[in-house]
Amino acid sequence: MTAPAGGGFTMPRPGAGGSEQAVSAEDDPPVPLADDAVLDVDEVRRESDVDAVLERLDAELVGLVPVKTRIREIAALLLVDRMRTRFGLSSSRPALHMSFTGSPGTGKTTVALRMAELLRGLGYLRRGHLVSVTRDDLVGQYIGHTAPKTKEVLKRAMGGVLFIDEAYYLYKEDNERDYGAESVEILLQIMENQRDDLVVILAGYKDRMDDFFRSNPGMSSRIAHHIDFPDYTVEELAAIAGLIAAEHEYVLPEDTVRVLRDYLDKRMRQPRFANARSVRNAIERARLRQANRLVSEPGASVTKQQLQTLEPADFLASRVFTDPPEEADAEG
Ligand SMILES: Nc1ncnc2c1ncn2[C@@H]1O[C@H](COP(=O)(O)OP(=O)(O)OP(=O)(O)O)[C@@H](O)[C@H]1O
Ligand SMILES: [Mg+2]
Repeated sequence: MTAPAGGGFTMPRPGAGGSEQAVSAEDDPPVPLADDAVLDVDEVRRESDVDAVLERLDAELVGLVPVKTRIREIAALLLVDRMRTRFGLSSSRPALHMSFTGSPGTGKTTVALRMAELLRGLGYLRRGHLVSVTRDDLVGQYIGHTAPKTKEVLKRAMGGVLFIDEAYYLYKEDNERDYGAESVEILLQIMENQRDDLVVILAGYKDRMDDFFRSNPGMSSRIAHHIDFPDYTVEELAAIAGLIAAEHEYVLPEDTVRVLRDYLDKRMRQPRFANARSVRNAIERARLRQANRLVSEPGASVTKQQLQTLEPADFLASRVFTDPPEEADAEG
């Protein structure tokens, strides 16, 4: 086989049958643009999916302004990197491991999915899928089980995003013989050595994550972006309710929205409130009550509009309105 001119860096993989075709013109470094060339930024944007992803992020996610701002900055950085490469400037890829901190239901998992799409659109990740795990997926119960488990997960995540929820459970400060430390060791190595093929996102509550980083400076120093997800306001939660309802082809009339705001205002003071997740659950409950309301009357008939509409009563029947706060600790 003949080595492509100037492409001497690419070693054909042993055992990869028919590898002659695999070494193609793609492996030749592209000829850099002239020093006085001018690049059209809009065109470079269009070549990637960046705008489509950013628009969806804006349209489908309520609030989260600081989060969206940071994502735009990361997108800009990667676009600039892309353009630098065209001029033959050094294109050392920025490290993009991140931590997402915030209360339950503030959109961390959803944003991680979007981030994966964005990084694929910008050519940073080759696959752009998300592998979401917790301690149990990484750490074994017995000696010798942790390394294979962690490596298996890393293998699945390569080319995409590894999302580790409640990452602080990986490390137990008061237990030196915990197998979690072994998993952290392997993660640290891969985060350093294979950062061009994997983005790790650690997620969890802010205060616990801060403790985790204090006990694991190695981990902390490998995280390029710490992004904090604020709790939603009642207005934002109501807007999220509108989006979730629309997603299922339900309608929330004005008077229902008023009751819903009241519901949210009470619910957010109760235990186990989980921001947007609680909104989703509230809509599910309301759908149950609506269904019950529509079919329970003997000889009832319904219109399309009735089938789509969640009435104030569908929320007012919630225990949130009747039980004292300390007892109404379940979604309902
Ligand atoms: N800003 C938002 N706009 C619209 N929907 C949202 C928003 N944030 C979250 N949601 C919706 O709320 C639900 C919970 O969000 P998600 O699972 O991303 O939260 P999380 O922070 O990962 O929660 P947890 O910590 O419990 O895992 C999802 O169904 C998501 O679609
Ligand atoms: Mg989540």
